[in-house]
Amino acid sequence: MDAAASRGGIRLFQRTIDQVAQVTADSPTATEPLLKVRGLEKHFGAVQALYAVDLDLPAGQVTALCGDNGAGKSVLTKCISGVYQPDHGQIFWEGQPVHIRTTRDAAHLGIETVYQDLALCDNLDIVQNMFLGRELLRRRLLDEDEMERQAAKTLATLRVTTVRSIRQPVASLSGGQRQSVAVAKAVMWNSKLVIMDEPTAALGVNQTRQVLDLIKRLRDRGLAVMMISHNLNDVFEVADRIAVLYLGRMVIQDKASALDRQSVVEYMTTGGMSRTGAHAAN
Ligand SMILES: Nc1ncnc2c1ncn2[C@@H]1O[C@H](COP(=O)(O)OP(=O)(O)OP(=O)(O)O)[C@@H](O)[C@H]1O
Ligand SMILES: [Mg+2]
Repeated sequence: MDAAASRGGIRLFQRTIDQVAQVTADSPTATEPLLKVRGLEKHFGAVQALYAVDLDLPAGQVTALCGDNGAGKSVLTKCISGVYQPDHGQIFWEGQPVHIRTTRDAAHLGIETVYQDLALCDNLDIVQNMFLGRELLRRRLLDEDEMERQAAKTLATLRVTTVRSIRQPVASLSGGQRQSVAVAKAVMWNSKLVIMDEPTAALGVNQTRQVLDLIKRLRDRGLAVMMISHNLNDVFEVADRIAVLYLGRMVIQDKASALDRQSVVEYMTTGGMSRTGAHAAN
């Protein structure tokens, strides 16, 4: 990717994000969180994965969702992104109650999710993966050139320079490269909320830095970002707000500046039981 193409890609990307930010800023319900979850419950057979979970995801802020293994982070994410249907509770989008029945419903609202178990198709190449289900057409034929151009520009904005060709099958990519493609796919569309389940878990130092920088850029342009992470260095670097799930319950939601590492670890490992005057989740 030459420098000019890379700069062009960044301009196109920023224009897209600017448009999204404008929509968010003009919204009559700008003071409402972009997405609000109230009383969400989900069980699988005898396993209760979520108990009456409340969560706010404001525009222009990064919310880190933390919790130990099995706390319910991925299940909550999948309820928001239309993979699972909650048993009880309500989701509000820009103040209005919504039913997100499918991932298509979520995408239609402007919710893009990068899953922990990456939803990329091994047998397809990078461009095909990035446009899967939303292929561009020209005179009723696939517009391969335009899709290739947009995919390349988006990857350039992420400075994903290690892939040999955007026409190589995803099966031949490293874990970090796959994650980069999945993140690029999520940000390429006009999203208002980007959810990332452990976006940096498989990444090396440089790619982690790039993804964290990207998250900050999305936030600065007015998008809501929810980042699931076990890595408290990442959390405290980018999060404006921190929410902690413990055994399916939301035990704390607060400004990152009101919390420190030790208290977050305590909420993650004990649910805050050992704290005197523990915060109530708001
Ligand atoms: N499809 C499923 N069927 C049955 N149980 C499930 C299913 N998905 C999740 N669970 C259960 O729900 C609980 C929460 O799981 P979840 O995947 O949300 O955890 P998590 O917080 O994402 O953990 P991790 O940090 O390991 O990814 C766990 O007890 C898990 O076993
Ligand atoms: Mg998970």
